[in-house]
Amino acid sequence: MKIFLDTADIGLIKRYNDMGLVDGITTNPSLLAKAGGNPADAMAEISDVIKGDVSLEVVATDSDAMVEEGRRLRRYGDNVVVKVPMTPDGLAACRRLSSEGIPVNVTLIFSTNQAILAAKAGARYVSPFIGRIDDTGHDGMQLIEDLVGIFQNYGFETQVLVASVRHPVHVKEAALLGADVVTLPPAVLEKMLHHPLTKIGLDNFLADWAKLTGQGSSYSSSSS
Ligand code: E4P
Repeated sequence: MKIFLDTADIGLIKRYNDMGLVDGITTNPSLLAKAGGNPADAMAEISDVIKGDVSLEVVATDSDAMVEEGRRLRRYGDNVVVKVPMTPDGLAACRRLSSEGIPVNVTLIFSTNQAILAAKAGARYVSPFIGRIDDTGHDGMQLIEDLVGIFQNYGFETQVLVASVRHPVHVKEAALLGADVVTLPPAVLEKMLHHPLTKIGLDNFLADWAKLTGQGSSYSSSSS
């Protein structure tokens, strides 16, 4: 399963990329607004730092304008995937951009049928928003299970990109279901790094080493 980061924060992107954990990035207008600064600079830097797929979202709403915007976004790099919303115009733009060789991520997917249509339109990725589905009292992960099965049934090349992830359990469940990609808020990835028994175990090793040698270690587990 590929791990994407769902952020436009270049500092955090570099932190986790340095650990070899980042297969790609997803952004959206809200994430760019949260990161602050000039969005064009942010998109350029992210596309340069990350070698994997970087989803950059259009803000146009009609298909002609989406295609034009998508072509402009693609100039940030050959790794740019144009993100379009799951609307009739979005799917028309998806088909046109895909036929030009520009990969597309169809976002704001909330149903199985929406994802099937996006795959038919040529999307490289569909992005079901599981956390937002959970928020409505329904089971977001059921949508992932359905899509993984359906895409396998028909040999669709479109990848299921699990979005709106809220906690590490979502990640484990998506992996068990065979989802292609999860895109993670940095806070979720950070939680996945840690376990209390790792810290306790390391503290004990270091304390025993200090007792044995009469000197401490230069490494402190509190930094992990
Ligand atoms: C994915 O591409 C979206 O940007 C993101 O996962 C949405 O997550 P949210 O529901 O936490 O805003």
